[in-house]
Amino acid sequence: MLDTQARPGALVGADTHDGVRVLTLTNPPVNALSFKTSTALLREIEAAEADPAIGAVVITGSNGFFSGGADINDFQKAPEPGGKSVRDVVAAIERSPKTYIAAIDGSALGGGLEVALACDYRLGTPATKVGLPEILLGLIPGAGGTQRLPRLLATKNPMNFGGIQMALQMMLEGKPKDAKPAKGMGIIDEIVEGDVVARAVALGKEKAGTKNRISALKIKIPPPMVALAHGMVPPEDRGGFAAHKLIDAIEAAADLDYAHGVAREARIFRELITSLPSQSAVHLFFAERELGKIPGLATDLKPKTIEKAAVIGAGTMGTGIAMVFANAGIPVSVIDVNPEQAERGRKNVADTYASQVKKGRMNEEKAKERVAAVQFADAYDAIADADIVIEAVFESMAIKKEVFAALDKAVKKDAILASNTSTLDIDEIASATSRPEKVVGLHFFAPANVMQLLEVVRGAKTGPETIVTSMALAKKLKKKGVLSGNAFGFIGNRMLFDYVREALFLLEEGATPMQVDNAIKGFGFPMGPFAMSDLSGIDVFYKIAQEAPKVDYRQSEISHRLYELGRYGQKTGSGFFTYEPGKREPQRDEEVERIVAAESARLGITRRTDITDEEIVNRCMYALVNEGAQLLGDGIALRPGDEDAVWIFGYGFPWYHGGPMWWADTVGVKKIYDQIVTWRETLGKHWVPAPRLEEAAKNGSFSPRPNTGAFN
Ligand code: 3HC
Repeated sequence: MLDTQARPGALVGADTHDGVRVLTLTNPPVNALSFKTSTALLREIEAAEADPAIGAVVITGSNGFFSGGADINDFQKAPEPGGKSVRDVVAAIERSPKTYIAAIDGSALGGGLEVALACDYRLGTPATKVGLPEILLGLIPGAGGTQRLPRLLATKNPMNFGGIQMALQMMLEGKPKDAKPAKGMGIIDEIVEGDVVARAVALGKEKAGTKNRISALKIKIPPPMVALAHGMVPPEDRGGFAAHKLIDAIEAAADLDYAHGVAREARIFRELITSLPSQSAVHLFFAERELGKIPGLATDLKPKTIEKAAVIGAGTMGTGIAMVFANAGIPVSVIDVNPEQAERGRKNVADTYASQVKKGRMNEEKAKERVAAVQFADAYDAIADADIVIEAVFESMAIKKEVFAALDKAVKKDAILASNTSTLDIDEIASATSRPEKVVGLHFFAPANVMQLLEVVRGAKTGPETIVTSMALAKKLKKKGVLSGNAFGFIGNRMLFDYVREALFLLEEGATPMQVDNAIKGFGFPMGPFAMSDLSGIDVFYKIAQEAPKVDYRQSEISHRLYELGRYGQKTGSGFFTYEPGKREPQRDEEVERIVAAESARLGITRRTDITDEEIVNRCMYALVNEGAQLLGDGIALRPGDEDAVWIFGYGFPWYHGGPMWWADTVGVKKIYDQIVTWRETLGKHWVPAPRLEEAAKNGSFSPRPNTGAFN
């Protein structure tokens, strides 16, 4: 193994072997190319360039990582005087007459891959992953990636413009490629089983002085392919801003020579980095990574390993949760005393995996493994040795307490007992056991095997180890785990109740369900509050409302009227809308409009005809923001970004608005606060500005993370 250790404290190590200079990025944890690291790398490149004894330069990374790309923190900062960016590094490599080799062990992402693409050769290892994920930050690759990847792939895969398609897809999806496919596509030249740096040095010696510049390649892109690509991505104002710009930049790779193309790319990058969608995506990137940081917990507290899980209840939710465990490679037993229910559960699991195979998403062998990982049983003795049990039975406190008391006796003493309740009091559930420190809420969202959100609910006595284990488990299950305090509805549903409340009041005042839903869809949600109520079940909402804490203002009774008529939503073919058999598309129902008008009349409300989409969006969103602020003040949510994650990953809030609390910052918290104060006078006393909203209005925002777009 070549000794390529960086000098202590240096961001880039430099060693010479056989006339080949090896530069090692050392900026843990992901060797991000910060201004400082890029400046250090550029300095080492210049030193190698000035040394006539050096014929080739190898660039590699330490800690089993090549580089995670430009440092996203730098997007908010200006470089120090004389500081350089990854773009300067790429330009220096491009200018050089010497041979450059990227020795990629681990991941080369974004600017990291762009440095590697500027090199003449790229060597990988079986652990290599390469990707240009900038689109996920609302950006395009900004250091030559949009110009080099299409040139490289189009040249290596000329048949039917296959290479261009690959490049488009890879950058539009932002998903990294593993070593083998990357080699197959031609992104890396060789997969090295042993010491990749040693092999790169040998290659450098052999090839010293030869150039293999991707920038010199000429390619063509057929115009219909460009038009097709534009047609396949969302409109610019619906999250597709960067995607359309990316396609423009890729088109430039064919239309223009490298120098002009890369200048076009830089101009587009500058435009994107200060755009609201990109700022929202960057906010979300950091918010997601903050989710697991829980103040007050000892940093050396280790999560317990979960090797065996159990789920109580073979309903849709229970089997969905079981499949989440099976997908993560954790064997799981589902307990249901009702043999018919268990049979339906077993069928649900088998059918779900069979459909994955049919859709080509999984091979048969894997599907068989997953089906086998989910066992069904009818008694608790089958799960005595489970490390975690998740209860997913009927949403009734009495039943849940019974289940927990029985589990407490049946399951080993150090196992975690979790409830999938969406609203009920975790402390009361825990009181049925002798181990409240092991009791936690794990609120999965339906369908559990699809939705990304997992609320981890901390009761008054939930122990720190239970929390860290639950948060680590969320990660293992590939869910976004968000810690919530134990309040009715936790974070997500608690905010939802206020959002739906306002949507219902809008109906009473003169709006129609279709008008409200269309306005909310116009804002970017995949469905409006009423189609969502129909999907979740109006009966479910009705029952939750019976258990909700009492409030000192009037609630709309429109949902009650629908409930009384047996209009439970999609499952009964009618709710706020009607549904043709087997279809999910909501249809306007004049009967509902009559019911609503009768409610307005009963309440003596004069219906207005001047309700605009803007009023609908503002009232529903401000309700979300105000309740979000209330939960922050009450300590139920840790951070505004946690609430943003809940709404983006659990409720379809459009990512490009960054979540309700981030969106509030972009609108101006003071504006929202002032409006709520006015609404209290005009709309009623349910509009109470939360203390935390008032505080943020004074401070200017909820989240102190402005994106100045300095990295441009
Ligand atoms: N810049 C700054 N910090 C970064 C970073 C980056 N590019 N990538 C990761 N990090 C940080 C994370 O914030 C996190 O910090 P924390 O521990 O303080 O919370 C730490 O590295 C570890 O990250 P993860 O928790 O995400 O660790 P994983 O191992 O799960 O994932 C990863 C590692 C795959 C690199 C993932 O972090 C990732 O996808 N990062 C973003 C990669 C990216 O988008 N690169 C493009 C940047 S933009 C660019 O290059 C512009 C150029 O084209 C000009």
